[in-house]
Amino acid sequence: MHTKSIELLNKSIADELSAVHQYMYFHFHCDDMGYDLLANLFKTTAIAEMLHIEKLAERILFLKGEVEMHASSEVQKTHNVEEMLKKASQMEEGSVKEYNLWANECSANADSVSKQLFESLVVDEETHFDQYDTELDNLKKFGDRYLALQSIERSKTRATAAGTQN
Ligand SMILES: [Fe+2]
Ligand SMILES: [Fe+2]
Repeated sequence: MHTKSIELLNKSIADELSAVHQYMYFHFHCDDMGYDLLANLFKTTAIAEMLHIEKLAERILFLKGEVEMHASSEVQKTHNVEEMLKKASQMEEGSVKEYNLWANECSANADSVSKQLFESLVVDEETHFDQYDTELDNLKKFGDRYLALQSIERSKTRATAAGTQN
């Protein structure tokens, strides 16, 4: 039995669960503040992380291990958009580093399927990092106008929807 792989896969599930909780928390608050673009980005990324949990759990069960469902950290309760994007970028950067290391560790233990799973997660986490980093750049470049534009977009969408109902 690949005991070390099971341990690493469960550590990943803990990080992925923390990401789901954190991104959904950011999603609720961005939605509440009217920032649809960011609200949707956090929600779709949370769903992607949930699907990562599914893949990791399937691998643990194949290896005859037990799936531990404990989040690795508490949700950071910030309502500041810049802090949200910084936190999310840091989380993705951390996952990329860890999953690269753990892919190598699984390879060293002759578990190439777990290695490939970690490598496929690295690809997704790098994409998530890039998306958050791009939005952080946009926020820095355009400041409050970036957020104002998202609120205006929501008003436009709602006004259009109201118009079509009449
Ligand atoms: Fe993930
Ligand atoms: Fe991610």
